[in-house]
Amino acid sequence: MNDKATANAAGISARGLVKHYEAGRVRAVDGLDLEIAGGEFVAICGPSGCGKTTLLNLIAAIDRPDAGSLSVAGVSLTGLSGYAADGHRRSTVGLVFQLHNLLPNLTALENVQVPMLVTRRTPRERRARARALLERVGLSHREHALPNALSAGERQRVAIARALANEPRILLADEPTGALDSKNGARLLDQLDELQRDARTTLVVVTHDPQVAARASRVLEMLDGRITGSPAAASGD
Ligand SMILES: Nc1ncnc2c1ncn2[C@@H]1O[C@H](COP(=O)(O)OP(=O)(O)O)[C@@H](O)[C@H]1O
Ligand SMILES: [Mg+2]
Repeated sequence: MNDKATANAAGISARGLVKHYEAGRVRAVDGLDLEIAGGEFVAICGPSGCGKTTLLNLIAAIDRPDAGSLSVAGVSLTGLSGYAADGHRRSTVGLVFQLHNLLPNLTALENVQVPMLVTRRTPRERRARARALLERVGLSHREHALPNALSAGERQRVAIARALANEPRILLADEPTGALDSKNGARLLDQLDELQRDARTTLVVVTHDPQVAARASRVLEMLDGRITGSPAAASGD
């Protein structure tokens, strides 16, 4: 870890965060408090429908909170303009989401370059960086493959490479090992560990997978739109 990496560590802080749907009938996030320090690896567990994906969407500024405060990497997301929200998504957070699929007509190498299209990198730099990222996830030999020709595990690895394209300080992942067998799941976890260790990337991973929770530095339980606790047994340190 170097000084730059330490300075880059970015935290997340929420107070009384609220996101309701359908005129308040669905209380997806309901007065949630959350404190994540820069460089932490936090797993969020909880039953289906408890608001995990909604929370990640708020942190990524894909959705806006109805009430409460939310600050990510020192920036308040509450009153952010659409333009600033785009910038936040592009430069601060990397997303590995279930529904953010790869573009089917682009090769692995092209998919990884997509987030870089809106940066100042030249085409040559974009390509070189995408290559390096695919190498990092062990997919150099598949860089010209279309998503259809890749296995679920390989597609997930391309999605990780794409999420890292702009060197996000925070990586948000929604059930990243859900579609993977245990070998590929373990490999993905090794890559996340490496990221956290080397780049001090803050990791927030929503998961049902005990393998993921075991790697996290902290496990948070979510229920009915709130963080309800942190099981003592989950921490290995
Ligand atoms: N866009 C939406 N419109 C209406 N209801 C939604 C929307 N997104 C999520 N919900 C509802 O909010 C609740 C929380 O959903 P979600 O955050 O996806 O939970 P989880 O990821 O924990 O399964 C669920 O009841 C879900 O049906
Ligand atoms: Mg979900």
